[in-house]
Amino acid sequence: MVTFITGNKHKVIEAEDIFKNFDINLDHINLGYPEIQGTLEEVALYGAKYASRKLNKSVIVEDAGLFINSLKGFPGVYSSYVQETISNQGILKLMNNVSDRNAEFRSVIGFCTPNSEPKTFLGKVKGEIAFEEKGKLGFAFDPLFYVKEFDKTFGELSTKEKNQFSHRRNSLEQFINWYSTEY
Ligand code: IMP
Repeated sequence: MVTFITGNKHKVIEAEDIFKNFDINLDHINLGYPEIQGTLEEVALYGAKYASRKLNKSVIVEDAGLFINSLKGFPGVYSSYVQETISNQGILKLMNNVSDRNAEFRSVIGFCTPNSEPKTFLGKVKGEIAFEEKGKLGFAFDPLFYVKEFDKTFGELSTKEKNQFSHRRNSLEQFINWYSTEY
């Protein structure tokens, strides 16, 4: 059994859909943990170790973000703060008249057992910042994140479609492959 520590129900729905194809039981607990200032990896390492010790369970945590090339990686590690403050319309303003729309979602999974040191698994997906929000599915930056192959934003994709190739799918799949050989 692995416990996903998150308060984000969208992340839980996505993770459950990915885990159901594998022989690992996934539980989830909304345990707040201190989010230190740092890289996605540092936040995930700290959070996973903290939660595994606190709950005496094997846990995963996730730290994710949207990295926009022309903004030198912003909002990156500040993604949740930017989402809560200037939100998608604020990002569109920053991208006004910017022709390089390339961006990347990154997800880092941190895993830790009560008696081990934490490990991380990085997943990425490339896309573009759309010129307007599109779609009501998903959450946060999803309506802004355009994927050429589908000619749709993440906000227009079902969980199943997003889970075929998202940053979260990639990081969780790496974790699952590693976990399946270790445990
Ligand atoms: P967190 O700190 O891991 O929760 O992620 C930081 C922020 O990145 C979230 O609050 C969202 O604003 C954004 N984010 C992470 N993953 C996604 C995603 O799959 N879709 C849209 N926004 C995301």
